[in-house]
Amino acid sequence: MIISYENKKSEEDILAQTVNAKLKTVFGGKTGNKLIQGDNLPILKTLLDEYTGKVDLIYIDPPFATNGHFKIGEDRASTISSSGDDDIAYSDTLIGADFLEFLRERLFFLRELLSENGSIYLHIDYKVGHYVKLIMDEVFGRKNFRNDITRIKCNPKNFNRKAYGNVKDLILFYSKSENPTWNNPRVQYTVEDEARLFKKVDKDGRSYTTIPLHAPGETANGNTGREWKGIKPPKGRHWRSEPALLEEWDKTGLIEWSSNGVPRKKIFLDEKDGKKMQDIWEFKDPQYPNYPTEKNLDLLKLILNASSNEGDLVLDCFCGSGTTLLAAQELNRKWIGIDQSDQAIKTVKKRLDSIPANLFSKVEFEMLEQVEKDLAKEKSIQSEKLFESREKINFSLHPSQVMQ
Ligand SMILES: C[S@@+](CC[C@H](N)C(=O)[O-])C[C@H]1O[C@@H](n2cnc3c(N)ncnc32)[C@H](O)[C@@H]1O
Repeated sequence: MIISYENKKSEEDILAQTVNAKLKTVFGGKTGNKLIQGDNLPILKTLLDEYTGKVDLIYIDPPFATNGHFKIGEDRASTISSSGDDDIAYSDTLIGADFLEFLRERLFFLRELLSENGSIYLHIDYKVGHYVKLIMDEVFGRKNFRNDITRIKCNPKNFNRKAYGNVKDLILFYSKSENPTWNNPRVQYTVEDEARLFKKVDKDGRSYTTIPLHAPGETANGNTGREWKGIKPPKGRHWRSEPALLEEWDKTGLIEWSSNGVPRKKIFLDEKDGKKMQDIWEFKDPQYPNYPTEKNLDLLKLILNASSNEGDLVLDCFCGSGTTLLAAQELNRKWIGIDQSDQAIKTVKKRLDSIPANLFSKVEFEMLEQVEKDLAKEKSIQSEKLFESREKINFSLHPSQVMQ
């Protein structure tokens, strides 16, 4: 399934015709970390020279086609309420097909930068997320789609709208290949989980449960399909382990026999490191953000811990206040952050500076700037003026623009 809309460029044209950005170092040396100010499209193209296939993890939280301006004041950054005196942190005025194409162009470059074991997480809202999913399928391949994570972002709302309150947005998770870095994050059992899942207690007072000693699938020739202690695994199943190991488990008391002679494996609560993380996450955004639409730092740490390792390179090309970069810094990953907004860059620097010196040595990074930045800025001022004179329109794609 491919989404179609007017002025959709070919992948080849995007990759070939996008111009490189000229970058100049403003301060800092080559430490592996980079903060770059400018339009991310030409900058991503420039990064290809050094980083093709070298980025281990990408998280992006682009504008959501809200057709609005996000403001920042002296002592407050807000998404909902703002004062007339506040500066615009960034504008989110591209809507409909223009927004999708803006994102799609950047995604092709991000795919080229990603390493073979790399992953990308794209944060988006429920109004455009389903269109963006089609674009992600197109760029990264449906087979590399891993999750559509529901992120609970705020407390329940009581708006007058004739609809259910919206407390979630979504994170689309794709890998570059079939074998992404994956550290299988676990969640602690709750007291209720422990009582429900580990009901039995052994003579030493250890809580445990039991699971079948066999698993689905028949073994054609191997030992796990053979009789053990005179019992064959049930039809369509095989023993979980080789008979020699089953024997050892039995000797050390790890197998429980039912009154009618069925063996089951004991699983002890104190040996489990929690339960598998599922795809509904609650990470509310900060109540007093440094920057509008700033995301939860723990959310980013979870993503980085799950899909990257120490020393890996993490990229966020819509880095805003730098939440991804902070998480990367604190978790000993290298990072590249890109944003075009003066306010964003100012906030990133402030946040990096505030990392306690006793926890980590001073954060070192190279600050770069797109040389044509003033031109890009001029263009964005012009489009803001155009926006001011236009009526607010909601995101919409005419059904005829969506092809199956
Ligand atoms: C939703 S905010 C990101 C917030 C961020 N995740 C955080 O935790 O602070 C989106 C950011 O994308 C930036 N942005 C939008 N278009 C851009 C472009 N073409 N190049 C670089 N940055 C851009 C905006 O300036 C804004 O800071």
